[in-house]
Amino acid sequence: MTALSTSNTARFDVQLAREPLSSEERAKRMQNPGFGKIFTEHMVVIPYSEELGWGKGVLKPYGPIVLDPAASVLHYGQAIFEGFKAYRQPDGHVKTFRPESNAHRFNASARRLAMPELPVDLFVEAADILIRQEKDWVPNAIGESLYLRPFMIATEAALGVKAAKEYLFILIASPSGAYFPQGVKPVTVWISENYVRAAPGGTGSAKCAGNYAASLVAQTEAKAEGCDQVVWLDAVHRRYIEEMGGMNIFFVYKEGGETVVVTPMLTGTLLPGITRLSLLEIAKKLGFRAEERRISVDDWREAILEGRMTEAFACGTAAVITPIGTVKSAHGEWQINRGETGPVASQLREALLNLQHGVDADLNGWMHQVC
Ligand code: PLP
Ligand code: COI
Repeated sequence: MTALSTSNTARFDVQLAREPLSSEERAKRMQNPGFGKIFTEHMVVIPYSEELGWGKGVLKPYGPIVLDPAASVLHYGQAIFEGFKAYRQPDGHVKTFRPESNAHRFNASARRLAMPELPVDLFVEAADILIRQEKDWVPNAIGESLYLRPFMIATEAALGVKAAKEYLFILIASPSGAYFPQGVKPVTVWISENYVRAAPGGTGSAKCAGNYAASLVAQTEAKAEGCDQVVWLDAVHRRYIEEMGGMNIFFVYKEGGETVVVTPMLTGTLLPGITRLSLLEIAKKLGFRAEERRISVDDWREAILEGRMTEAFACGTAAVITPIGTVKSAHGEWQINRGETGPVASQLREALLNLQHGVDADLNGWMHQVC
């Protein structure tokens, strides 16, 4: 696609697509968007070199990027990414949810992968510029949003194993609806005993591409066992629950007449989810007790069998909240809440979505107005 240079800002050059899509074509593409299948018309690219630091960014037409075949990302995998969303508000404005938290986590991932950090305000500005350009790609329906995917790759052409000296930060956007094809129906999970996602000292708390590559074989095993998703155990004891696929996990207990919403504590091997952190706070606002604990597979099964646990669900930006209906492992299986979505998962999901879509007031200042 050819580009037309228009208004440039101090930090970004702007080259708009010469042939924008008609609104009819855009509406067609946005029907039942699913997740990560269609992309908007522009992207942001910011180059980095060790010598010059971060260069001027560019908002340009969405399209392929050219890489040297020796680019070190292709060989040694220096690649990190983030994911957050822009939501249409009732008055037509567009807001993102806690984008600075994603910027900080991006930099934590960068540090772990020996990559350069991107200034937090530049990360947020890059997203704002892209979203303003693509505001017509932000869906209106609750549960739909514009998913932002910032990522950074090592582009230096060098086969020596070392931290690269050149990188690209790229941001693309994708209108999104339900992450899982079945919508918010409860999933069946497979407790993986053959594979681990993350070990102490490893990259589990970073959002780096390799973590996802390494998870795929376990996901394939889960599918072969008739399950939708894999549940990861800790690498040392192989007992404690860490995450479900690419999402954090929550358990709902009834303790002494109280509803307690519990998530595995962060140990350095879990991805510190922004949805996880937000739900811990929302749960308290809704009158639940919210705690971070260590939960073993045995605790999980016993609490269900004894009726002390009433629900389990996973959470993350892409799928929001996904109830867990059935748990399977090499040693047996058990059902949760008769395989149905429970009231606490529903209540939390609704509270989070209402906040993100501006139906409820943003008392925590989590929403960032873009346009
Ligand atoms: N765990 C993993 C491994 C993830 O990839 C993600 C997604 O980013 C999450 C948890 C949930 O994090 P968040 O709520 O910030 O999207
Ligand atoms: C999430 O947002 O929960 C994710 O795990 C993103 C996924 C598509 C990598």
